[in-house]
Amino acid sequence: MMLAFSMATADLLLLVVIVAAASYSFTSVHAGAACAPKERDALLAFKQGITSDPGGLLASWQPEDEHDCCQWEGVQCSNLTGHVLELHLRGGDLTGEISRSLLSLQHLEYVDVSMNNLQGPTGQVPEFLGSFNNLRYLNLSYIPFSGRVPPQLGNLSKLHYLDLSNTGWPQPMYSTDLSWLTHLPLLQYLNMESVNLGMVTDWPYVVNMLPSLRVLILDDCSLASANQSLPRLNLTNLEELDLAFNSFQHPVASCWFWNLTSLVHLSLEDTALYGQLPSTLGDMVSLQVLDLSDNSNNLSMTTTNLKNLCNLTVLDLDASLSYGNITELIERLPQCSSNKLQELHLQSNYLVGFLPSIMGHLTSIVTLDLSRNNITGPLPAFIGHFAHLRTLDLSFNHLTGHVPSKIGHFAHLRTLDLSDNHLTGHVPSEIGMLANLTTLDLSGNDLDGSITEEHLDGLRSLEYIDLSNNQLKIVVGSKWLPTFRLQEAYFASCQVGPLFPAWLKWQVDILQLDISNTGIIDRLPDWFCNTFSKTKSLEISNNQISDGLPTNMDIMSLEELFLSSNNLTGQIPPLPRNLNVLDISRNSLSGPLPSNFAAPNLVSITLYSNYISGQIPTSICELSLYALDLTNNLFEGELPQCLNMSGMAYLLLSNNSFSGNFPPFLQSCTSLLFLDLSWNRFSGALPMWIGSFSSLWFLRLNHNMFYGHIPNSITSLTNLCHLNLAANWISGSRI
Ligand SMILES: *[C@@H]1O[C@H](CO)[C@@H](O)[C@H](O)[C@H]1NC(C)=O
Ligand SMILES: *[C@@H]1O[C@H](CO)[C@@H](O)[C@H](O)[C@H]1NC(C)=O
Ligand SMILES: *[C@@H]1O[C@H](CO)[C@@H](O)[C@H](O)[C@H]1NC(C)=O
Ligand SMILES: *[C@@H]1O[C@H](CO)[C@@H](O)[C@H](O)[C@H]1NC(C)=O
Ligand SMILES: *[C@@H]1O[C@H](CO)[C@@H](O)[C@H](O)[C@H]1NC(C)=O
Ligand SMILES: *[C@@H]1O[C@H](CO)[C@@H](O)[C@H](O)[C@H]1NC(C)=O
Repeated sequence: MMLAFSMATADLLLLVVIVAAASYSFTSVHAGAACAPKERDALLAFKQGITSDPGGLLASWQPEDEHDCCQWEGVQCSNLTGHVLELHLRGGDLTGEISRSLLSLQHLEYVDVSMNNLQGPTGQVPEFLGSFNNLRYLNLSYIPFSGRVPPQLGNLSKLHYLDLSNTGWPQPMYSTDLSWLTHLPLLQYLNMESVNLGMVTDWPYVVNMLPSLRVLILDDCSLASANQSLPRLNLTNLEELDLAFNSFQHPVASCWFWNLTSLVHLSLEDTALYGQLPSTLGDMVSLQVLDLSDNSNNLSMTTTNLKNLCNLTVLDLDASLSYGNITELIERLPQCSSNKLQELHLQSNYLVGFLPSIMGHLTSIVTLDLSRNNITGPLPAFIGHFAHLRTLDLSFNHLTGHVPSKIGHFAHLRTLDLSDNHLTGHVPSEIGMLANLTTLDLSGNDLDGSITEEHLDGLRSLEYIDLSNNQLKIVVGSKWLPTFRLQEAYFASCQVGPLFPAWLKWQVDILQLDISNTGIIDRLPDWFCNTFSKTKSLEISNNQISDGLPTNMDIMSLEELFLSSNNLTGQIPPLPRNLNVLDISRNSLSGPLPSNFAAPNLVSITLYSNYISGQIPTSICELSLYALDLTNNLFEGELPQCLNMSGMAYLLLSNNSFSGNFPPFLQSCTSLLFLDLSWNRFSGALPMWIGSFSSLWFLRLNHNMFYGHIPNSITSLTNLCHLNLAANWISGSRI
């Protein structure tokens, strides 16, 4: 009985073992095999090489036995063998190195460690990466590697994707010989953005030996030329070629790639190519994106027609063409029954003429940028056909006539920029139908009439508005509540007053506001500092703002404050702490400057033509000023000797009652351009070192009590254009 029992127990134990083994193999096939201990150890050793993992990407990588490394984040194994096949560690913000221990993962097919700081102590791409014989995908982009790209990568004969793109910062990687690439016959994708290939003159021959290549990105690679003549082009699969930001400096027509009719995407932005585009460009019928921008207006299209490029969706010719007639150019663009062109960029091309009606065929257009040309005439009716338009930029041309009321039909419009033209008449109220408009710029035209609540109420998405420099009047009720929340608003020279616009009270997101010269005859409202507490720049000059400045301005984030030519009175209060530029000239401010007046970042202080009195507080010495203009005030006493003059270019103190000697601290001030001490009570002799202001243009010391001789050194002021020493006691000029 005893024996039988133990026999049964043994059987049972055996059975348990068999069942366990069966269920183990069951899980391996259906839910991923457990990884081999050797591979798990390799991953743990890789983790050892990581010194910082702020996002916790490797938190699941734990050494305890019960953890199956195939379940770890970013690790993928073979369901059948349990071998680690893929590492997905993109953008983990990991710092450290790519450990050699990974060499144990000999089955790896896919490695993406991009966007990490894994450059390690050497800063170089590890040579051992060339030993992963099974790798199909290797992404090392945006790891700040420097040094040579290891030719050992040429051993990765199964590679399909190789991404070595970089920022070139702090130092670029480089390669002087790309022949290792020719051992990668399966390569479909190669990206070496910002790797210095300046010494590789045969790069087109090398890439031409990669017949599988579909994407080739070599922008910003310091490539020296692209005019090699290849006997035969093998790149019949190439779809994307990006050579932007290389300085080729040869005729565009001599480039080697114009026969690649398979190209879908071609970028030659900023490549210093010039001359006529070849007629073969017109045969590249697969092209969807063509970027020829920023070629210093040295390209021309006189014999090139893009008429048959029916797949073209993006054409970027910004600052690339050397002068042309807008009609002739548009006639060369695709003219297909279903026109797919969505983006047309023609900024800064010196184009002349009227907008031709043939443009009406661009029915798919989403972005149209014709800014900074010499286009004349009215806005034609055909623009009403552009049902999908989101961005219309016609700024800086010579357009005339009215803003058409049809503009209200562009329901998708987000950006409308008609600034700096000669448009006249009223702004149609239909503009208020543009519920998705975020940017509206009509500045610098001759528009007149009123902008009313009817114009503005519908502009619910508006963030940026510029109506400045027209003859427009903003007419809204005193209780009007805008539907938009502006970030930037420019109304310079519009009629906005006489009251300070009450609706601005709700624009608490505003960063930049210009209401200069807008006819405001009012005080600053009591909500001023709270509403504009996030604002960076306020321009309110040339109005009739009266009474004092708010005393709680120090709660504001302002960096620039312009209030010149108003009727402000009272004392200057403590200023916003971030202020850089302050201009409150031409007001009636009085009293002394408060002792804590100087915000630490101030570089420019313009207070001329007020009634400010007393001495300059010594707190000003903590500033690194570029310009200080206190002209026409009631200041007195000596200048603080501690004044920091090292970067000062403008020191204008005329017409006060400053006294003391020629300020000795000026000796350190070699960058001075304008120095005006006239009409004060300065006295003493002029120092010999006055000749050391080598950049000085303008020197006025007249109407003081200086005495003695004019120092000979004054003849060293070779840049001087204006000199006035009159009405002092300076005798016997020895010039
Ligand atoms: C492996 O298993 C996972 C999860 O069960 C599954 O998503 C994947 O498709 C499988 N892969 C293969 C190659 O069978
Ligand atoms: C490589 O990774 C970057 C992101 O880090 C990604 O943008 C890029 O598309 C990847 N390259 C390839 C070939 O997938
Ligand atoms: C890889 O290539 C280099 C030369 O490019 C060669 O010296 C090396 O033996 C090759 N094999 C491995 C495993 O790195
Ligand atoms: C490119 O095309 C032109 C004209 O179609 C032809 O004369 C030239 O031989 C071709 N070049 C190459 C390298 O295929
Ligand atoms: C474009 O207009 C500017 C200013 O009106 C003028 O100076 C320039 O000569 C014009 N250029 C062409 C090509 O017409
Ligand atoms: C306006 O914008 C919203 C949100 O982006 C979008 O859903 C809507 O389709 C847009 N309307 C038009 C007419 O483009």
